[in-house]
Amino acid sequence: MKVPECNKSIGIFDSGVGGLTVMKEVMRELPAEDIIYLGDTARVPYGARSPETVTKYSLECARFILSKGIKLLIVACNTSSSVSLGRISEEVPVPVVGVVNPGARAAAFMTEHKNIAVIGTETTIRSGSYEKAIKAIDGSINVTGIACPLFVPLVEEGWVEGEITTLVVRKYLAPLREGSFDALVLGCTHYPMIKDIISSVAAIPLIDSAVETAKEARRILLEKGLLREGNTGPSRKFFVTDSPDKFARTGMGFLGSGISNITKIELGGN
Ligand code: DGL
Repeated sequence: MKVPECNKSIGIFDSGVGGLTVMKEVMRELPAEDIIYLGDTARVPYGARSPETVTKYSLECARFILSKGIKLLIVACNTSSSVSLGRISEEVPVPVVGVVNPGARAAAFMTEHKNIAVIGTETTIRSGSYEKAIKAIDGSINVTGIACPLFVPLVEEGWVEGEITTLVVRKYLAPLREGSFDALVLGCTHYPMIKDIISSVAAIPLIDSAVETAKEARRILLEKGLLREGNTGPSRKFFVTDSPDKFARTGMGFLGSGISNITKIELGGN
């Protein structure tokens, strides 16, 4: 029997566990939707890789998740969204939502001094994706990008509070002291996990791309008549390219609830 379009799942992929911060927000915003999540845990991190490699991996993720029959694809990884969204959208026949544009849009509306800061992985910041997206809305806004490569390993190590992470955050965010910034965009899946520390150091409003992306997903589903309602037992399926046990253990903190129904798969050449 053919599944009605609106009863299909939302697909979400990320380089690993980090995208669960996006899934958490999607579950909050769209509680009746079935969700399929893919974490490319065997090849994480994407954040220090070249745009070509990230795009190759991201397309493999997108193709796999598409094969499960989805109605909307969310690219939860900021690095993939920064360098691969165009290629993914060209290939995938369902609406595709990345995390950069929703975050950038929210930032562009908080511009008293026309000064926005963005933090992300090396590849995200080098791509200038947030800057381009913000400037496309208002070319007079200045965007300062800061790569914070140590945040991902610290969060994955579970060091989401304490002195060491606070010192590292202070060091990376030192440039914020030199300008009147209106807001700081958390341009990486892992950063909401250390939101409290970032907020205490930066002392300016934070924009969480995960929250904005979930709202954007709702808008698109509504507009296309694909929103699912009244499903009281939504399903959550997880696919990973490395150990399901490790994903369940690390992922719990990111998702804020226990994770089961995890299947290990092979992608490309991993
Ligand atoms: N998911 C990545 C991002 O949001 C962070 C982890 C990685 O580098 O793969 O950019």
